[in-house]
Amino acid sequence: MKKILVTGGSGLVGKQLTRILEENKSEVSWIGRSKKERPHHQKYNWDVENGSIETGWLQNTDTIIHLAGAGVADHKWSDSYKKEIYESRIKSTKLLHDTLSNNNHSVKTLVCASAIGIYGNNCPKSTDETFPAQSNFLAKVCDDWEKEAIKFELLGIRVVIIRVGIVLAKEGGFIKAISAPAKWGLGAAFGNGKMITSWIHINDLCGIFMKAGNDPNMRGSYNAVAPNPVSNKQITKAICHAIHRPYLLPNIPAFLLKLALGEMASMILANQNISSKKIVKAGYTFVFNHVEEAITDVII
Ligand SMILES: NC(=O)c1ccc[n+]([C@@H]2O[C@H](COP(=O)([O-])OP(=O)(O)OC[C@H]3O[C@@H](n4cnc5c(N)ncnc54)[C@H](OP(=O)(O)O)[C@@H]3O)[C@@H](O)[C@H]2O)c1
Repeated sequence: MKKILVTGGSGLVGKQLTRILEENKSEVSWIGRSKKERPHHQKYNWDVENGSIETGWLQNTDTIIHLAGAGVADHKWSDSYKKEIYESRIKSTKLLHDTLSNNNHSVKTLVCASAIGIYGNNCPKSTDETFPAQSNFLAKVCDDWEKEAIKFELLGIRVVIIRVGIVLAKEGGFIKAISAPAKWGLGAAFGNGKMITSWIHINDLCGIFMKAGNDPNMRGSYNAVAPNPVSNKQITKAICHAIHRPYLLPNIPAFLLKLALGEMASMILANQNISSKKIVKAGYTFVFNHVEEAITDVII
């Protein structure tokens, strides 16, 4: 039985990943921020800001799956919230690294989340993992996060970085954000609607995290996006169709989004046509290849 420590396990991806890992007979524990009552899986607490961490997992973990970080779409990007988005990822990775380097442990593998945001807001068609990190805010967060993760290799730990696309899931994230207004007949694409969205069904993402943990041949960075990215207009139409609501409105203009969301609008308006070739070549077979079937699955 594999023993897996998940950081940020209480989040959208972490909860589903935990379910799937347990169905596959792994033993999962979470390390997270302290809560009045610890959820069932959260055996360990940490305080990333102050650098404190419980260490009972050190001798009891084969693989760390590191998902923790302040949500990039949870709040408008004030300077202080941008600092939290950045530091929650960088400091938590450093805290894990320092804890492992200062103690005896059983950890063999780190699987660390990152995002396709590393490629910037407008990247070429079929961008693959060799495309350089860009310099906008989210790209810098991802790049610095990955640089901290790679340092675990020097501790003899295999490192796999998963550059996550837009996650389609029942419980929240993109689908919830778009389908809420669409339910009121307010489904509309953003900007010119032509920007490409590289999406992934949450179960495929969890499958990729599991494969990364189990496959000794995987090392370095992999895009986690389905093989068929679509335009923002196509994905919004597919959501309206799945919830039987009209797609009638004109697109929401980019300037309105920028007024409402500030710098965060750049993330929504990003044009990201990302390649899944490397993860497919590594042996992962997608269950959800087309956006309509993925959306129908998460909405129904
Ligand atoms: N969902 C997507 O579409 C998407 C796309 C690209 C990349 N990603 C990346 O994949 C990872 C998982 O995504 P997700 O959607 O599951 O995220 P999520 O729902 O926002 O969950 C992230 C978890 O991180 C922990 N966290 C939040 N703020 C923190 C802080 N200030 N310091 C330390 N920990 C903090 C929380 O766990 P505790 O409360 O248990 O500590 C939270 O449940 C994230 O790093 C995200 O950036 C997600």
